[in-house]
Amino acid sequence: MIMCTVYLNGDYVDENKAQVSVFDRGFLFADSVYEVVSVMDGKLVDFAGHMTRLTRSLTELKIEGGPGADIWEGICRQLVVRNGLTEGMIYWQVTRGNPGDRSFLWPAPGPSPAGTPPTVLAFTQAVALDSNPAAQTGIKVAVLPDLRWGRADIKTTQLLYASMMKMEAKALGCDDAWMTRDGFVTEGTSQNAHIVTKDGVLITHPLNRDILHGITRAAMLAVAGGLVLRVEERAFTVAEAQGAAEAFVSAATALILPVVEVDGVMIGDGAPGPITLALRNAYIAWARDNAI
Ligand code: PDD
Repeated sequence: MIMCTVYLNGDYVDENKAQVSVFDRGFLFADSVYEVVSVMDGKLVDFAGHMTRLTRSLTELKIEGGPGADIWEGICRQLVVRNGLTEGMIYWQVTRGNPGDRSFLWPAPGPSPAGTPPTVLAFTQAVALDSNPAAQTGIKVAVLPDLRWGRADIKTTQLLYASMMKMEAKALGCDDAWMTRDGFVTEGTSQNAHIVTKDGVLITHPLNRDILHGITRAAMLAVAGGLVLRVEERAFTVAEAQGAAEAFVSAATALILPVVEVDGVMIGDGAPGPITLALRNAYIAWARDNAI
């Protein structure tokens, strides 16, 4: 594995030198939020969108004192250059910090010694985005219950359930899982879920507390005009997905990826759908043009 430089609390260090306290609340309580920003041509895709969502997640959890947009942009640029990244992702994480012991109660925020500053870290990872072979084949999803907490809209690092569902999906011979709550599909384990009906209507879950408000989803909807008849932001059932003409997922690390099977039922003719592929191309063109 290639050693890379990571950012931790103001310093750029070798990944094997970066250390976080065992009392860090990110480690003990998953008291932390994160973002995943894709990098194409060495540039940051939708930096502003991810910055806005990070700020919202931090505000919802009252985690204070993290870096602002200018600092984050500088961190990203440094990491891209230092690690020679052209295609992949940058991971950001902000925890409530290290209060020096374990307590369910939050420490007072602010600089130490009186307060507890957040722990801020970032690293890069190479990922096949445009060149992802799954764009040609599509992916198969299992359908599993959504047993996550009721604030899926906050991008926290409580990812154990998502991780369990990915493992379960693999054990079922699938690539990933879509989750259901009260009979409706909420989202994928780490992607938003969408379908296209036989008459060309794009159906996607509305933005509420049951799903993460995907940054890729928002940009995809903005470029979808002209490619779909119309967009309906409403929850859909598994049966509706299985009867759809096309299905797909969106995420920073997936961009737009076709789904060709839902819970053992082939979607359309089992090949990536034309509208999905057109949306993928339109999104990639937009991402490359607008990356900074
Ligand atoms: N996951 N829903 C969930 C549960 C997610 O974890 C993600 C992203 C998305 C898509 O959001 P966006 O388009 O902003 O990436 C939807 C990231 C990629 C991850 O955890 O690696």
